[in-house]
Amino acid sequence: MMFKKTLLSAFVALGLTAGGGYAAGTSGEVIDYDFSFEGPFGTYDQNQLQRGLQVYTQVCSACHGMQYVSFRSLGWEDGPGFSEDEVRAYAEQNFEVYDEEEDDFRPATPVDNFPANDAVGAPDLSLMAKARAGFHGPYGLGINQFFKGMGGPEYIASLLTGYTGETMEQAGTVLYENTAYPGGYINMAPPLYGDDVAYANPDIEVTVEQQAKDVAAFLMWTAEPKLMARKQAGFVGVVFLTILSVLLYLTNKRIWKPIKARAED
Ligand code: HEC
Repeated sequence: MMFKKTLLSAFVALGLTAGGGYAAGTSGEVIDYDFSFEGPFGTYDQNQLQRGLQVYTQVCSACHGMQYVSFRSLGWEDGPGFSEDEVRAYAEQNFEVYDEEEDDFRPATPVDNFPANDAVGAPDLSLMAKARAGFHGPYGLGINQFFKGMGGPEYIASLLTGYTGETMEQAGTVLYENTAYPGGYINMAPPLYGDDVAYANPDIEVTVEQQAKDVAAFLMWTAEPKLMARKQAGFVGVVFLTILSVLLYLTNKRIWKPIKARAED
């Protein structure tokens, strides 16, 4: 009995560390894409994070800021894992930040964060994967989502692949039909068309879906950079609690043994 309960709590704990379960979303079609970081032992795929950063840099950053992410973090080993020189070159070549002392813009350095971007009112993407963790299907089956671990990255990838090509005008603004967006029409033009970037690895075909998954994985990392360390700590905790439970069970049996034996006489 006791043992069964222990197993159950271990299972629940593992499910929780998978980073999945949130309340069920009601609208929007979210596809259950596979990501390397799913499940209790999943890890970020460093090459994918690098590709996702490339998509963000060359496409999304035109409208979206990422002000809570530091350039320095691109060098973290459990992240994109660039060398110090690569991080410096990347920051310098791609972004300018406003320097209050100089009262002017200057090339970004590793100690800066990515800039904010208010140009078109697009939301900051630093924490988007967490903010949208609850926006997912399939319709109302909360338990399914809990065990499948669907969340923000699936939503973002589905949003980017979910354009139907239909548009609608509302109060002078063009809205784009999108099967993942709650309400069905979004004020973001389709940002990806396929072949929007050139990946360093020629074996990876640059489709809309590939880029969508890569940038979604990257945004999961920006929102949860310590996911892997947290999972590992969670797993150690589960093992520890399981061993402790077995020991307690055996101790308990032993303590009561003479008394039970007497009662049975
Ligand atoms: C031309 C500007 C533009 C580009 C480029 C762009 N976006 Fe957007 N994005 C927007 C705007 C504007 C909104 C707000 C839409 C709304 O509220 O209807 C938005 C909203 C979003 C949202 C939030 C949707 C929600 O649930 O509220 C996500 C996620 C997103 N964009 C991701 C991306 C990604 C990833 C890229 C790069 C592949 C990208 N965007 C490129 C303008 C852009």
